[in-house]
Amino acid sequence: MKTTLALALLAAAIALPAQAAPDAAAALALSESNKCNKCHTVDKGKRGPSYKQIAAKYKGQADAMAKLSTMVTQSPKVKYENGDEEEHKPLNTKDPAKVRNLVEWILAL
Ligand code: HEC
Repeated sequence: MKTTLALALLAAAIALPAQAAPDAAAALALSESNKCNKCHTVDKGKRGPSYKQIAAKYKGQADAMAKLSTMVTQSPKVKYENGDEEEHKPLNTKDPAKVRNLVEWILAL
């Protein structure tokens, strides 16, 4: 009985459409070529939070994709701890596939 159930679950898992994992190398390269790493690195926040902090903040939020995509393609105002306000630096591309890959990569950290 147990084996049958396990096999059924396995079959169901295989049948699910494979979700491609984000391309980390491409995401990192995009972040570096856009000088995002002046303010964010994977582990360390500089003027902005680290990408891991961002992932933790948005964990489980359904609209994370949309919010972060806006953040990196538009230039919303961001506030620094010292009270300075600045327009957030947008990516030099609006290619939806590249933006999506970067945001998915950040959220999966
Ligand atoms: C001059 C410094 C600076 C640069 C350059 C910069 N950011 Fe940011 N970024 C910030 C700050 C500060 C915040 C925090 C905003 C807040 O919490 O309100 C932030 C927040 C974010 C967030 C999270 C937004 C949130 O709601 O928590 C993402 C994602 C992000 N940046 C991505 C990028 C990407 C991608 C680039 C490169 C195109 C980039 N940043 C370049 C300073 C910067």
